[in-house]
This record gives sequence, C-alpha cells and structure tokens, in this order.
Amino acid sequence: MNKDMQELLDEARDVASKAYAPYSGFKVGSALRLSDGKIISGCNVENASYSLSICAERSAIFKAISEGRKDITALAIWVDSDKIFPPCGACRQVIYEFAPEIPIWYANENETVKTTMQELLPGAFML
Ligand code: THU
Repeated sequence: MNKDMQELLDEARDVASKAYAPYSGFKVGSALRLSDGKIISGCNVENASYSLSICAERSAIFKAISEGRKDITALAIWVDSDKIFPPCGACRQVIYEFAPEIPIWYANENETVKTTMQELLPGAFML
C-alpha cells in the first residue's frame, strides 16, 4: 500500500472514533480522497429509530457532494471491530453513482482488503 492510501486509512480509523453507534456497537469510519489530495471523512450515525441510521461511507460521500466535490479518487473504510466487512449494498449503489472506477480499501485492526466497484457491484443499476 502506498503512503497516500495509508494516510486515507488512518483518517478513516480516526473518524471511526467519532461514530455514534450505541445500538450496533459497530463504529465505522470512511475517508475519501479528492483529485487535489483533499480528504473528506464521515462516520456512521445511528438512531433509536434504527432505519434512520446512516453508514460511514454515505456520510463521507454526502459531505463531499455538499461541498460541491464529485472528483473522488479513492475510498477507505475502517471498522473498529474483529469483524471486517465491505460496504453494504446501499453504500455500493451510492459509491457507484459518483465514483464507479475508484479503488476501495476496507480494514480493521487485523486485516486490509483492496477491492473495486466492478467487483462489489457488477451489473450496477444506473440511469
Ligand atoms: N455500517 C456502515 O457504516 N457501513 C457499512 O457499509 C455497513 C454498516 C454501519 C451501519 C450501522 O451503524 C452499523 O454499521 C451496523 O450495521
């Protein structure tokens, strides 16, 4: 892994500590890189009405879009848990909307996996 990607994963790990996850206990952080090198991060935010919760990946992507930025070049996801997981289906669809070609890294303390949207969402729906 190169230095930029390590930095992105470190950022995802930092922001995971800000997650609000009292119901699942899964604290997730996500960080995306923009074409000028800027990093935007987001964490999962849960709610007592469970379905209102937002995942870390969508949190970061919606922040970027809200700042007028769609030039996403890479995405990192960190979960503060023994169980590692790739982005959920809803997040895959949202990542695909804005960044269908980017590398995606997901990790926890023990393991780091690199993947692509082509692998995660083959035959994606798009208008
Ligand atoms: N979660 C994420 O933040 N990203 C994913 O891709 C999968 C799940 C969060 C949502 C919820 O707060 C917790 O993890 C358990 O599902």
